[in-house]
Formats: sequence, structure tokens, C-alpha cells
Amino acid sequence: MRLYVGSDHAGFALKEQVRAHLEQAGHDVVDVGTHSEQSVDYPDFARQVGEAVASGDAEYGILVCGSGLGMAIAANKVDGVRAVQIMDTEMAKMSRMHNDANIVTLPGRYIEPETADAIVDTFLATAFEGGRHQDRVDKITSMEHGTRD
Ligand code: RB5
Repeated sequence: MRLYVGSDHAGFALKEQVRAHLEQAGHDVVDVGTHSEQSVDYPDFARQVGEAVASGDAEYGILVCGSGLGMAIAANKVDGVRAVQIMDTEMAKMSRMHNDANIVTLPGRYIEPETADAIVDTFLATAFEGGRHQDRVDKITSMEHGTRD
């Protein structure tokens, strides 16, 4: 799969390790940065990954900050993005099955590297169920661009 990854300084170490894990698994990974622990602003990276996913350049995105929260809030401002902050594999599975999430955000300060690997593996391996869930996702999409009736 073609994937985009990004982080801020607080997510840098975990992003590096998740990127290596994904590359080892054979994915085509684009890393938008950051590339050190020097302080940066997470929305800059959320925007780049969000736009890559929304445009179809990337199938999925992985974003890491301290809590995963700011990355999710920022990425969800890009139309077409459904970003979710995830801390365990069960929620990773649900976010794909019911919500067709296309970006997973991880809390670099709160989960172990092995947990992060398991979360992304589960996220990428789980299919959207469609059906009634598609109708609900369509309603979310209809709220974009202020087009909701
Ligand atoms: C940076 O200190 C921290 O605020 C950021 O990484 C993230 O957790 C924001 O949601």
C-alpha cells in the first residue's frame, strides 16, 4: 500500500519506528517529517498527510503527536479525511469496519512501540463493512463544504 506518515517532535520517535515497521512489511511509505525532536507545529504535518489521503495519492495516513489528539483534530479539517485517535487494536478494527477511517493518529507519549505496530497492522488489514455504515459515512461527507441540509 502507498502510505503517508507524519509527526511532530513529540511523535517523532514513534513515527520513525512505525515507518520502519511499515517499510519492512513492504509498504510504499512517504514520510513528510518531522525529522528531529526540535519543536514544530503538528497541524503542518496533519495537513500534508490529510491532503495526500484526500487526493488519493495515499491510501491511508499515519500521524503521531504526543497525544494523537491534535493530529486528529487538524487532519479532520481536510475534506475527505476521517482521522481517528487510536490506543488499542480493538478500536483500530472498529474505526475501519464502521467508520471507514482513513487516517490513524497515535499518541507517542502514551503507547508502547509494539502496541503502535499492532494498531497500524490491524488498521491496514481491516476492511470497511459498508451497508448501513456507508449511509452514515455518507452523512458525514455531506457535512463537508457546509453542504448539509
Ligand atoms: C506537543 O507538546 C503536544 O501538544 C502535541 O504533540 C500533541 O499532543 C497535541 O495534540
